[in-house]
Amino acid sequence: MTAPVVLGIETSCDETACGVVRGREVLANVVASQEELHRDFGGVVPEIASRAHLERLPGIFRMAMEGAGIARADAVAVTTGPGLIGALLVGVSFAEGIVRGWDVPLIAVHHLYAHLWGVAVVRGVKPPFCGVVVSGGHTAFYVWEEAALRPAFLGGTVDDAAGEAFDKVASLLGLGYPGGPVIERTALEGSDTVDLPLAGADMPGLSVSFSGLKTAVLYHLKGMGREPDEKEKADIACSFQQRAACTIAHKTAKMLDETGLSDVVVGGGVAANRALREAVGAACEERGTEAHFPPPGLSQDNGAMTALYGGLLLEHGEYERREFAVPEPFPRGKERQRAL
Ligand code: KG4
Ligand code: ZN
Repeated sequence: MTAPVVLGIETSCDETACGVVRGREVLANVVASQEELHRDFGGVVPEIASRAHLERLPGIFRMAMEGAGIARADAVAVTTGPGLIGALLVGVSFAEGIVRGWDVPLIAVHHLYAHLWGVAVVRGVKPPFCGVVVSGGHTAFYVWEEAALRPAFLGGTVDDAAGEAFDKVASLLGLGYPGGPVIERTALEGSDTVDLPLAGADMPGLSVSFSGLKTAVLYHLKGMGREPDEKEKADIACSFQQRAACTIAHKTAKMLDETGLSDVVVGGGVAANRALREAVGAACEERGTEAHFPPPGLSQDNGAMTALYGGLLLEHGEYERREFAVPEPFPRGKERQRAL
């Protein structure tokens, strides 16, 4: 029996994406980034994101189907949260239309679980494993137990996400948006010479905090009393990146020690960062464990990971057939703190 073909649709933030998989094999993965639409605002503008998804999704869908060489899939997986509500609704409504036309199941997918499962599948890692999600909206540590269909949350950020910190520090340095890639490029020209604190590494358990590190960059810049030159910017970018990477590596080490597991899967946009890979990789090597990172195209938001995780739920019959998949609201403020 051939494995089912699953179409994955992802519109949770500023990437319009469709992927097609057959079992564990990725047949197509088409991503349209909206970076250029949000750049002038220094961050994602939800209303612009929703409208762009609406305009682009039909074309991205067609490209993915043509790329995979199929006219129909056996199921449609769609991200239902967490993410921007309006943006999610575009993907969910589109998926709802397709499953009605094709008469196939609709599978609601949790975006963060997809970030981890997608990397685990393409890297050939089987549960149990530890998981680290480092994205623009989240920084979270998980354990994915053997035979489990979703991971258990162990801890995460109490304020900014890792990617959010990169974006905000890039904005403080006037480097533009999105911050992660530009900080990484700028850091190549600098050295780790600026005295910045290790971001919340002393917080209890697997909690982390990036706001202190971000504020330290702000005060460092204020203390200079003038615009930093290019070399100074590069030194700040490099020092910030090192501290952020060390914090994640430190907590990853703690998680490995506590769980006794030997594999860690890292997912999310910041997983593309080389300093983070080196720091986490070194912490794993010291313990005789292994870190697994996404290949190109699978760290940023994409539809292949949505389809891969949808495939796992499909295989186990763990989806709500024909139910409208209501996006999960992302908790904010006090509500968010209680949730953590
Ligand atoms: O996973 P993702 O595409 O979207 C969310 O689910 O949030 O992650 C986007 C985040 C952005 O904050 C971006 O600045 C960051 O990932 N990012 C990076 C790098 N590439 C993207 N951060 C550090 N280094 C990178 N090379
Ligand atoms: Zn993401």
